[in-house]
Amino acid sequence: MQAQAVCRKATAEDVDTLYELIKGYAEKGIMLPRSKETLQRQIGTFVVAEIDGEVVGCGSLCKLGDDLVEIRSLGISEGYKGQGIGSKLVDRLIEQAKEQNIGKVMALTYEVRFFERNGFQVVDKEIFRKSMDRLRQLPETALLRRNRRSKTLN
Ligand SMILES: CC(C)(COP(=O)(O)OP(=O)(O)OC[C@H]1O[C@@H](n2cnc3c(N)ncnc32)[C@H](O)[C@@H]1OP(=O)(O)O)[C@@H](O)C(=O)NCCC(=O)NCCS
Repeated sequence: MQAQAVCRKATAEDVDTLYELIKGYAEKGIMLPRSKETLQRQIGTFVVAEIDGEVVGCGSLCKLGDDLVEIRSLGISEGYKGQGIGSKLVDRLIEQAKEQNIGKVMALTYEVRFFERNGFQVVDKEIFRKSMDRLRQLPETALLRRNRRSKTLN
């Protein structure tokens, strides 16, 4: 039987592993690169998925406003995809957003079906323009998940 992935908060000891995982996807143009310095600084925003002590996936939350966070750097190691680990990480990140009383979670991604399966809906990218300094010009799709009723960004 395959071991279950466990999600936990990332620690400084995960920086090198996260750097390599994100670098692999950044080189393919599907994720923004993160330097080790940035990862060290932002490690508190990351969660990792582990199987038998090995980190096999990660994701982070970036605060864009009082009621809006972005899921960033969500990636699963090759060989571990399609086992529910990405969904587990998304659940964990959504829980963290709820704990911070943040109502809206968004993502800019090519993995539209995956996010839809996880309760997100495709929205017009433009609604985030005010919240993001530089709305990326990449052809990624914007998706949004509302944790509770919200008066803004309707
Ligand atoms: C997108 C990504 C994070 C998804 O992670 P994942 O662990 O493969 O996702 P899941 O296993 O939870 O779900 C993927 C599929 O596997 C299926 N699945 C879920 N649990 C499963 C299980 N226990 N066994 C087999 N399949 C399963 C899901 O139904 C889903 O199917 P879908 O493609 O029809 O939606 C991963 O593919 C990845 O790292 N992609 C590259 C980086 C990237 O694009 N990241 C997004 C940037 S924000």
